[in-house]
Amino acid sequence: MAEHLIIHTGDKAERYAALLPQLEAIVAAEPDGIANMSNVAACLWETFRFWWVGFYRVKEGMLILGPFQGPLACTRIRKGRGVCGTAWAEARTIVVPDVEQFPGHIACSSASRSEIVVPIMRDGEIVGVLDVDSERLNAFDETDALWLERVAALIAPSF
Ligand code: SME
Repeated sequence: MAEHLIIHTGDKAERYAALLPQLEAIVAAEPDGIANMSNVAACLWETFRFWWVGFYRVKEGMLILGPFQGPLACTRIRKGRGVCGTAWAEARTIVVPDVEQFPGHIACSSASRSEIVVPIMRDGEIVGVLDVDSERLNAFDETDALWLERVAALIAPSF
């Protein structure tokens, strides 16, 4: 495995395009889900310096915090609650341009202004979510949705 992440200096899509094959190589070399979630969160953070990036896993009928980079986060989220629980309940990616406008948003960090949550599907079931927060309003768009869904797909088998 490469010891250093190569970070493209181009626009968002170019950065994701350079990152994805590196994530594929990292995940292909390691079957353990915790190890892979940890490295994927770290690489996403290192590339984009997101305010918060990490995973929640479906366990005990709720979402429980997994590996992440960023400030302290809430540990358990019920289905249908917050952005994460809504993405799980509705089985779809949710982009929130302004968290204050999202009813029921769970503010783990008061600095978070916008958010994207991508469900992670394995064998037709949602096994967790990938959650990314920004301290800027309107930080996420279809480009993030497209590439983060690819990241979710590549980590799903080892989840
Ligand atoms: N804001 C999320 C909670 C998780 S934190 O952002 C890390 C939500 O509303 O589900």
